[in-house]
Amino acid sequence: MSKTVITFGTFDVFHVGHLRILQRARSFGDRLVVGVSTDALNENKKGRAPVYSQEERREIVAALSCVDETFLEESLELKGAYIQRYGAAILVMGDDWEGRFDALSELCEVRYLPRTPAISTTEVIEKIRV
Ligand code: CTP
Repeated sequence: MSKTVITFGTFDVFHVGHLRILQRARSFGDRLVVGVSTDALNENKKGRAPVYSQEERREIVAALSCVDETFLEESLELKGAYIQRYGAAILVMGDDWEGRFDALSELCEVRYLPRTPAISTTEVIEKIRV
């Protein structure tokens, strides 16, 4: 039986930290499903609109060879429902979220992975702006 891994993120201004966590997530199973957060969710969460639209961000993530399926994540509260919908055995999150999703370990294994140091979308935007 195939083992599905699920992860979530904005993946705006796609960078190598995004690529590495997706590749590592995929290595834990044989199918990777990625929830790409909607523009509306980001405006609420980060207080700014993403540079690239949800359709563009999803198109970029979906084109990666390590990604098998994508969907739009409409709400942070629905992670449990998404895990069940896609039959995920493992939830992968960056360790910036350490501990925040432990309650979901009732549904599947929860793994927090170390972030790639010294890069983030926010930093890239700042660097280009200067
Ligand atoms: N991520 C990572 N290493 C980085 C940046 C992000 O492993 N250097 C991971 C995050 O932990 C998350 C996924 O990539 O699991 C998507 O993160 P996202 O929030 O979209 O990217 P950030 O670069 O952190 O964006 P921002 O600066 O807007 O918060």
